[in-house]
Parts: sequence; C-alpha cells; structure tokens
Amino acid sequence: MSSVIFTILCSLCFCEGAKILAVVSTPSYSHQVYFHNLWRELLARGHHVTLISTEPIYDNDLINLTNININATYDAVDKMKLMGKEFSMWQLINQFEDFLRTSTKLHFSHPEVKKLLNDSSAHFDLVIYELVASSLVYSWKFSCPSILVSSLDSSLEDHFILGNSFHPLVTPEQNVHIADPEKISFLEKLVSITYSVSCISFMYTKFYPAAEEEIKKQLGYDVPSLWELSRNISLIMDATNPIFHNIRAVGPNTIHIGSGLHINKPKSLPEDLKDFLDNSPVPVVYFSLGTNVKGNLLNQTTKAEFYKAFSELPYKFLVKVDWENLTIPKNVKVARWLPQQDVLRHANVKLFITQGGLQSLQEAVTNAIPMVGIPFFGDQFQNVQKIVKRGIAVKLHRHEISKETIKNAITKVLTDPTYKQKVEEMRDLMYDEPMTSLDKAIWWIEYVLRHKGAPLFKSNAANMPMYEYLMLDVIGAVLAFLIVLSVFIKLIYKSLKFILSRLIGGYFVKSKKKRD
Ligand SMILES: *[C@@H]1O[C@H](CO)[C@@H](O)[C@H](O)[C@H]1NC(C)=O
Ligand SMILES: *[C@@H]1O[C@H](CO)[C@@H](O)[C@H](O)[C@H]1NC(C)=O
Ligand SMILES: *[C@@H]1O[C@H](CO)[C@@H](O)[C@H](O)[C@H]1NC(C)=O
Ligand SMILES: *[C@@H]1O[C@H](CO)[C@@H](O)[C@H](O)[C@H]1NC(C)=O
Ligand SMILES: *[C@@H]1O[C@H](CO)[C@@H](O)[C@H](O)[C@H]1NC(C)=O
Ligand SMILES: *[C@@H]1O[C@H](CO)[C@@H](O)[C@H](O)[C@H]1NC(C)=O
Repeated sequence: MSSVIFTILCSLCFCEGAKILAVVSTPSYSHQVYFHNLWRELLARGHHVTLISTEPIYDNDLINLTNININATYDAVDKMKLMGKEFSMWQLINQFEDFLRTSTKLHFSHPEVKKLLNDSSAHFDLVIYELVASSLVYSWKFSCPSILVSSLDSSLEDHFILGNSFHPLVTPEQNVHIADPEKISFLEKLVSITYSVSCISFMYTKFYPAAEEEIKKQLGYDVPSLWELSRNISLIMDATNPIFHNIRAVGPNTIHIGSGLHINKPKSLPEDLKDFLDNSPVPVVYFSLGTNVKGNLLNQTTKAEFYKAFSELPYKFLVKVDWENLTIPKNVKVARWLPQQDVLRHANVKLFITQGGLQSLQEAVTNAIPMVGIPFFGDQFQNVQKIVKRGIAVKLHRHEISKETIKNAITKVLTDPTYKQKVEEMRDLMYDEPMTSLDKAIWWIEYVLRHKGAPLFKSNAANMPMYEYLMLDVIGAVLAFLIVLSVFIKLIYKSLKFILSRLIGGYFVKSKKKRD
C-alpha cells in the first residue's frame, strides 16, 4: 500500500519545476493573450517557462519566466496584402505561403532565438507551441515531447495529422462559409471538399517546405521535414466547444479546453467608464469588432450609419473603434481600447455587437449577453452562424449595413426576451464541466511531462499514408480483381460459346445435309 502511495506521489511531483518552452508565433493579439493565464498558472505551479511570443508578459513577480519578444513578426501581417481589406478563404490560402515565409524568417532570425537554438547546454522537458508547425524545430532540437495549442478549433491539417476525423462535410474547415452545416448544399459540398483537399495538399507541398527552407537559411543547417516532425506531437489542445463548433470524432490525444482559458478574475473598471455604466438609466450596448477588424474595413458612409442608428435608439452605446472624423452622438461613448471582459460583466450591459471572434463569443456567453454578429473573415462566418442557430444572436450582413438594418437588429435582440433566456442556457451548458479549462489544460500538460509524451494515445490513422486511410489500396485491389474476374468469365463464356457453336453448329449442318 505504502509503495503505491509513494509511486503516486512520485509521479505527481516528478514534473514539478519542469522546463517548458512556450512558442506562440501567430502575430495576433487575440491568439496571444488567450494563453497568458496558462503560462501564469504553470509558473505558479513551480515550472520554469521560456515564452517566445509577440505579446510578452512583463511582470517582475514572475521570476521563473523568460520572455523572448518576436513582435517583429507583426511585420509579416502588415506585408500581407489582405490586411485591412476583406478577404476570402481562397485569398487566404493564396497568401499564406508568403506570410509563413516572412514570419518564419523574422522569427528564426531573432538573435535570442538563434542563441537559444545554438546553446548546447539548453534543456527543455516540453515544448508547447501555438498553431505554426515551424515551432516543431524546438522539440526536435531539444529532444522533448510537444503539445500543440490553439485559441480556435484546431486546423484541418492538424486533425489530419493526429488521425482525427477531417471529413469536409461533417466538420467543414472553419474558414469555409457554409450557411447551415446541417443542411449543406451541393455547391457548398463542392467548395468545402475542394478547400479541404487544397489545405492539406498545399500544407504538404508548399507551406511546410517554404517554412523549412526559411529555417534552414536562418540556422544554417538542415532540419527534418515539418510534416514528419508533426507526426510526433503528443497532444493537441484547442478551444473547441459544442456551442460554437460542429461535433468532430477525435482521439484521446485531442483535448478540448473549450470555454475560456482567457477568462480573467473581475477587475474594477476605470472611473469614467464605471460612472458611464453605473449611472445609465437605460440598457447599454457594447460595440467592438475586435483587434483584427480595423476601421478601414468599413467606409465612412457605413460608419456614419452606425452612429445615426445609435442616435435614434433609446439606449446608450459604448463603442470601441479606431474611427475618425465622424460626429459622435450624445448617447455614445467612444474609446480606442476597453477592458472588454469587465465591460461585459457590468449589469447594465445588455447587448454586444461583435465581429464574431471566438474569444469574444466565449466572453459574451460567460456573461450571458446576447449578440448582434457582423462577420468579416476567417472563422467569424461559421461562429456567427452558430450563435444565430443557438438563438443567442442576430446576424447583420457586412454589406447590408444601414441605419435601418442596424436599428432593427438591435431592437430585435433587446426587446425579445428569448435571446437572453437562450444565452443563459448556453452559459450554464458551457460551464457544466467536471473541471475548469485551466485545470484541464494543466492536468494534460503535466500528464505529458510525467509520461514524457502520450504515445498510447496515437491513432493508427496518424501513421497511415492517405491512400491507405481512404482504403484506396483495398478498393483498388477489389476493383482490379473484379475486372480481371469479369474479363476471365467473359473469355470462358466466349470460348465455350465458340466451341459449342462449332460442335452443335457442325451437327446442325450435318443433319441439315442429311435431310436434304
Ligand atoms: C523559481 O524556480 C526555483 C528553482 O526551480 C524555485 O526554487 C522557486 O520556487 C521558483 N520561484 C517561483 C516564484 O516559482
Ligand atoms: C515590440 O515590443 C517592443 C518592446 O516591448 C515595443 O517597444 C514595440 O513597440 C513593439 N512593437 C510592435 C510592433 O508591437
Ligand atoms: C553557435 O555557437 C558556437 C560556439 O558554441 C559559436 O562559435 C557560433 O558563433 C554560434 N553561432 C551562432 C549563430 O550564434
Ligand atoms: C519521434 O519520436 C520518437 C520517440 O520519441 C523518436 O524516436 C523520433 O526520433 C522522433 N522523430 C522525429 C522526426 O523527431
Ligand atoms: C480624418 O481627417 C484627417 C484630417 O483631415 C485626415 O488626415 C484623415 O485621413 C481622416 N481620416 C479618415 C479615416 O478619413
Ligand atoms: C460603403 O460600403 C457599403 C457596404 O459595403 C456599400 O454598399 C457602399 O456602396 C459603400 N459606399 C461608398 C461611398 O463607397
């Protein structure tokens, strides 16, 4: 008995003070801050964290945290011709190679990154990396297991690599626009299949090789193929939740940390904001299109329509925008930045107008705030489709924005109590879990540390070539066999017929002659 307890204790404390390398490479504020609570919690549990990211955590109390700031990679986003414009999923695929090249170059040319990778005494027990496969070079270099994390649903390629279902009609890729995944039209099927096949094949033939090439250029030596390295990922942890995503069949190495790693403890609001919200005799509508939808995505006329609509409604509006040169109505308060979570927590805030980014939706549901969704790009279309389907939001089409449509959408959500009821139901569902997102994430990270990976969780599918996974070899062999068999039967039939016709024909000919 005591030996059992000892073993359990050992296995629990073994991983204390592990050295963890966290690499969050996507230059996007929302992809970055989503994980800050996770890094803090790992530090609080006695681990050492080296954080390579574009949004470092500067906090003198965190003595075991080392930051490497790669925010120069924001330049790769600025260079994308898409940014500041509306773009389609095809344009995104088209520009992804350039983006990956530039960001990988900026990442691996960083002097501290080079130094770390060149340091023969450096040692890590685990690499946790966000989305971009170039970061697998670290787990290869330090010979340690890796965990892939995502602040969204995992990408199609990652599900594919781990052997999860990536069926383009059951769980369409998150960037594909589908009006209703339960009633997918033929055209949408065609688009979804084409997009999925393109994503996976481009990843393999274009994107990974491009990143490898840039890494080699920067480091001066060959690195293994990222495709091969990615097959060694121990776990993926994503922000998938059944409220916002389609249900996907996944293996035990896929952990849905779901509702909100980023949900913070309440903080008090700045004085002026607190006054504005506390003293409002009417409901307050909060408006924010997130950090990636910039003001130049809307023209001045459209922006003015928003203010006109707001001015004619009996509510107050708290608006986070970078808009300029517009007359701001009396009932509107504008700011460049707002503490969104604490604003949504305020009892007088009754509606959230959002672009439909996943983290915004999680924050809205956490505080049971119904929404008006205006999707612009990426996963926002599918996210907004889902919240409309759940009955907790109304969608406003980006090209149908006018004073009237805005007024109608806002009035509808604020006057019909079912939106509020539904969003309360969704909040209760989202938080009815055996453990919090953070505890779940920590548990699985320490699981991988204790067992130096999660080898038993690997699906056979992960090691199969595509043709085998799709059973093409067997289908092909059976078809070939059937073809050979039918040809063979046909040959036998023909020759029997020939022989018989000769025999019987000869007999007939003979008997005919006799009769004559
Ligand atoms: C930092 O790491 C050292 C060595 O592992 C450990 O003794 C110390 O408790 C850690 N400090 C904090 C604040 O976690
Ligand atoms: C990058 O980080 C540095 C140091 O914190 C800061 O001065 C600079 O403004 C940041 N640049 C960008 C593009 O965020
Ligand atoms: C790597 O380390 C070696 C010595 O260990 C040093 O000579 C070399 O200049 C370093 N290279 C880089 C790119 O830092
Ligand atoms: C994958 O992991 C196995 C077991 O940890 C290791 O032997 C192998 O070298 C790894 N492959 C690559 C390409 O890193
Ligand atoms: C606002 O006006 C200033 C000064 O006329 C101009 O420089 C700026 O480009 C304008 N901004 C927008 C978004 O129109
Ligand atoms: C502004 O954008 C709206 C919606 O996309 C569009 O209908 C309208 O024609 C645009 N107006 C101008 C002046 O460009």
